[in-house]
Amino acid sequence: MLFKPAFLGLLATANFVHGAAIAHAEEQTSLEKRAAAADRLVFCHFMIGIVGNRNSPSQYDDDMRRAKAAGIDAFALNIGVDGYTDAQLDLAYKSAADNDMKVFISFDFNWFKTGEAATVGQKIAKYAGQAAQLKVDNRVFASSFAGDGLDVAAMKSAAGVDVFFVPNFHPEQTANPASIDGGFNWMAWPNDGNNKAPKPGSSISVEDGDNKYLSWLGTKPYMAPISPWFFTHFGPEVSFSKNWVFPGGALIFDRWKEILDKGFPLVEMITWNDYGESHHFGPLKSPHYDDGNSKWTNDLPHNGWLELSKPFIAAYKAKEKSVDKYISGDQIIYWYRRTLKGLDCDATDTTAGRPANNDSGNYFMGRPDGWESMDDVVYVATLLKEAGTLTVNSGGQSVEKEVPAGANLIQVPAVVGSQTFSLSRNGKVVLQDKSLMDISNICPCGLYNFNPYVGTVPAGESDPLQPDGLASLTIGLHVSTCQATPSLGTNPPVSTTGGSPSSTTGTSPPPSTTAGPTSTTGTVPSQSSSLPGPTSTGSSQPCNGGTNADVTDTVLLVRASALRMEHLEILPREMEGTDVLRMAWVMDTKGCVASLVVMATAPTLHVNTVDNALR
Ligand SMILES: *[C@@H]1O[C@H](CO)[C@@H](O)[C@H](O)[C@H]1NC(C)=O
Repeated sequence: MLFKPAFLGLLATANFVHGAAIAHAEEQTSLEKRAAAADRLVFCHFMIGIVGNRNSPSQYDDDMRRAKAAGIDAFALNIGVDGYTDAQLDLAYKSAADNDMKVFISFDFNWFKTGEAATVGQKIAKYAGQAAQLKVDNRVFASSFAGDGLDVAAMKSAAGVDVFFVPNFHPEQTANPASIDGGFNWMAWPNDGNNKAPKPGSSISVEDGDNKYLSWLGTKPYMAPISPWFFTHFGPEVSFSKNWVFPGGALIFDRWKEILDKGFPLVEMITWNDYGESHHFGPLKSPHYDDGNSKWTNDLPHNGWLELSKPFIAAYKAKEKSVDKYISGDQIIYWYRRTLKGLDCDATDTTAGRPANNDSGNYFMGRPDGWESMDDVVYVATLLKEAGTLTVNSGGQSVEKEVPAGANLIQVPAVVGSQTFSLSRNGKVVLQDKSLMDISNICPCGLYNFNPYVGTVPAGESDPLQPDGLASLTIGLHVSTCQATPSLGTNPPVSTTGGSPSSTTGTSPPPSTTAGPTSTTGTVPSQSSSLPGPTSTGSSQPCNGGTNADVTDTVLLVRASALRMEHLEILPREMEGTDVLRMAWVMDTKGCVASLVVMATAPTLHVNTVDNALR
């Protein structure tokens, strides 16, 4: 009898020493427990339709590991009827198993037909026995996007296994939810009841949607949506033209708090990788092909939103209403659009004044439908162990706020210019950084782009789109200055002396384009107005007319180098002057000219103007 307590004591010591392994085991136990009870599970919607270019399980590994590390229990693998679907499911299930992650299939009824119950059931059966298949209540979990009218009994019969089916059926379309095991609400954004942004007189909150589903489902589990944003801008360059926003703003922060408060049994994050609708939590560098979304996703990583979600996910699983004790260290997460909503891009936008297929009813010309519902605000979420003083400088306008410990959201008016963030305590700066993305009054790639830049302090890793993800960037653009390359560079800034100008992937600092000392750390000096610009000769080629180049300082550093390396003529002129170290004209293949100015005081490169060709 004496042996037992001693043995337990030894175990306790071992637990302490091998804390990480034990915590991992507990996490697994806890997933088993939560899955058995169909309570407090967190999923994330993953689009298989955009990753048809993957060819090994390892290409899923990073997604699986990142999602798992954030606390996501399983990916909802959204599938259509593409030829590569099963091949990709095979790879995803394998990678998930390799990484101790779970997955399940989510049938997209944009592509499946509701008469295809047998096909759906057979597909569930095909993957039901895989190690990574999520089981809830010890049954094979499956979900959908839309699909009201599917014969669920026939589907289950064709599956031949016990299916736990939580589809995105709708209370308006399926009067009685008796055939389903739970319900998934897709409407993660405030809306007008007609799949567009709220309008005066028709405004439906996400919570209104929760309540409708909850009363419809009764005791069956409700799968609640959470999404940070929605902006899509496909023009006539593709067949699936669509152009609208839902108000994003503070949504992700408010919604996580609401989810903790309400304690819904199931949550699905929308999405991991639907770049085309700008609601991805996953990285830009996650391998995918470009359906045209890179026009508005390039240089706009969202990883900070996954960071922000981590403590909320942990609190949710623990059935806590407060996130506070799951904050592991001081962190600032910020997001804002790179242009203000009033900026006029009609002259160069892909949709403005340009009709396109509107069978979906989702196509609008010019500013995206719903743009008025967006605010010109810099959103700053603070995750703090202790209270501090937050200082946000947006375009030279500084705002200081006392912020308590825990999770808080501060909203600051967005102003054109650089964006800096700092946290101090007792007069001492503890966190500080300048965003890689300025707010600009130039239409990026000539477009209305309402997708936000999301950054963190301390800065995260760089996250460039890969070549496959950039392949369609220039198709259909009406400016010639926009290149299919990432151009953010790294954060924190790195000295670029002697750097090779060949890499533009963003994993290296922007290449040097000057003979002098170069650094991207300095504050950018204001442009000199006395510099001579190129004169327009009325070329027939469409350049940017000086108004619509997509230009930030970092973009330019990369671009100027790329232009010079690839096909361009550079005509350096040494300038006498207080601040100008070197000035150059750069001409692209269409004869469009940019004047690039290297400033001496804070050596960096500027575009001074972009104009028609010197000919
Ligand atoms: C597309 O259809 C929707 C819905 O009918 C309509 O509101 C919108 O104005 C249409 N877009 C264009 C460009 O005509």
